[in-house]
Amino acid sequence: PVLPVIMAGGSGTRLWPLSRAGYPKQFLVLSGNESLFQLAARRLAALAAPDLELAPPCIVGNDEHRFLVLDQLRETRQEPGSVLLEPLGRNTAPALTLAALAALEGGQDPVLVVTPADQTVTDGAAFTAALQQAVRIAAEGAITILGITPDRPETGYGYIRTTADTGGLAVAQFVEKPDLATAEKYLAEGGYYWNSGMFVLRASVWMTALERFRPDIAEATRAAWAARKTDGKFVRPGKAEFAAVPSESVDYAVMERCPGTDIPLRMVALDAGWNDLGAWEAVWQVAEKDEAGNAFVGDALIADSQNTLVHATSRLVGVVGLKDIVVVETADAVLVSDRARSQEVKQIVNRLGAEQ
Ligand code: GDD
Ligand code: MG
Repeated sequence: PVLPVIMAGGSGTRLWPLSRAGYPKQFLVLSGNESLFQLAARRLAALAAPDLELAPPCIVGNDEHRFLVLDQLRETRQEPGSVLLEPLGRNTAPALTLAALAALEGGQDPVLVVTPADQTVTDGAAFTAALQQAVRIAAEGAITILGITPDRPETGYGYIRTTADTGGLAVAQFVEKPDLATAEKYLAEGGYYWNSGMFVLRASVWMTALERFRPDIAEATRAAWAARKTDGKFVRPGKAEFAAVPSESVDYAVMERCPGTDIPLRMVALDAGWNDLGAWEAVWQVAEKDEAGNAFVGDALIADSQNTLVHATSRLVGVVGLKDIVVVETADAVLVSDRARSQEVKQIVNRLGAEQ
């Protein structure tokens, strides 16, 4: 069987003030009429095919959001197989490890289709075809990642260089979040892809790779898993044990280290209108816009402005003569930012600390 795994425990700080600690971006409706998490769950459910048996999804998220996860998933008419609840975020490597350990419990070794919960895709059919191909490759034992053709020197993504091979492309190099100069160089050289953040691999293959490259994370997460408590669909790893797990992403912990070893890393190209809604700039990019490039959500009046995004949630917002600006209004906080610098919202959230 194939097991969808949704990683939904991120904090999404760059979409402040809409994204909050208690209600992070993956649970917000930012495009269309479902949340990013719900869109991810639907995309995965569409992978089922006569030769591809899908298990009910496994969600890995923060304990604080357990009812958001359950309610939102049920709105898509799906029941989770399990919801793994982290007491605190330790980034994606431990999250994926929990899912792999849970998957291996039943004595099977399913192919995990691991996806973030913060992306949008416009071409569902192309997405399904690429993921199904990735599942076939992963079933043979390779870690399979999905690559996007880059169109700008984005520094928030992983970069993949490939060499042609049978059954997908072999990954020759994986560089997570390069600096701007390096990203520009990759774009000029050509032949690089962005990492989409989706990973398709057998549960046992993940554990083998992690044991090899980060035995400390493997051991600490196993201890947290051994101390778990189960409450219906909810599974809670041991709190103190999980807090002791080193915090690291899948990309740094394993993907960067695979090329050149005997752990096969392959890539399938994904051309499906993929977008990572990391910051307000990306939300503007995917939004429906008027002739002047303005996008608005909620009660907004825009006069003589260009390429501006206004997102109003509780009051009427009027703007005049703005260019390349983002305005986000919520009941208790308002953000006004240069659109191109919307990544830097992180600085404000860091200053707010726990109060955000
Ligand atoms: N359960 C759990 N626990 N989920 C988490 C945690 C955690 O501690 N931290 C992050 N996540 C979830 C997020 O909610 C998101 O859905 C996904 O894991 C990816 O985490 P991000 O924090 O958004 O990663 P990123 O965007 O910086 O980088 C990743 O995605 C890029 C593409 O969007 C990397 O894989 C990059 O290589 C990739 O290019
Ligand atoms: Mg992300």
